[in-house]
Amino acid sequence: MAGVSLRAVEDADLPLFFAWMSDPDATRVAAFTPKDPTDRAAFDAHWARIRSGSGGVVMRTAVADGVVVGHVGAYGEVGDRQVTYWIDRAHWGRGLATAALRAFLAETPTRPLHARAAADNLGSRRVLEKCGFVVTGTDRGFAQARGEETDEVLVTLRA
Ligand SMILES: CC(C)(COP(=O)(O)OP(=O)(O)OC[C@H]1O[C@@H](n2cnc3c(N)ncnc32)[C@H](O)[C@@H]1OP(=O)(O)O)[C@@H](O)C(=O)NCCC(=O)NCCS
Repeated sequence: MAGVSLRAVEDADLPLFFAWMSDPDATRVAAFTPKDPTDRAAFDAHWARIRSGSGGVVMRTAVADGVVVGHVGAYGEVGDRQVTYWIDRAHWGRGLATAALRAFLAETPTRPLHARAAADNLGSRRVLEKCGFVVTGTDRGFAQARGEETDEVLVTLRA
């Protein structure tokens, strides 16, 4: 299993996050993204809000072998908290999302935790399954990155 450690988000992480989160191949996988992921000003404003801690958002940078490889976090009210994560596409398929989410769950006592994934985001669904989340429902919404209505799977971690 890949070793991942988590730390606070630093200024130097943001250009990396922006590059990953505006990568069309990655945004298509994630599906549910901001309307224009290439809008740097909107990205900066969003991450400034996140890092201020407003709304109870917690985001952590994932590091593997000294390299920043992704981020993982949670947002929302207790009882309805949602986890979210993103791994640099260059590092997909190495078990890093699973290791990052496991590390986050280990330092986060809040339960339940929820997540949503595009129904065809099989990698993300598998990450959630490996971390103990179980399917609790389905939804359908407009996925900005695809420009179309897209099925979603809702999952929950209870303990
Ligand atoms: C989803 C994402 C986080 C996965 O990251 P990753 O580091 O490659 O994930 P891992 O290597 O830890 O695990 C992926 C698992 O899914 C499986 N998988 C990946 N693609 C798959 C596919 N198309 N079909 C079936 N299984 C698949 C892998 O085999 C692995 O399972 P295994 O360990 O049982 O073999 C990454 O693709 C990403 O950042 N995507 C963009 C952002 C995103 O989608 N975030 C989640 C929003 S819900």
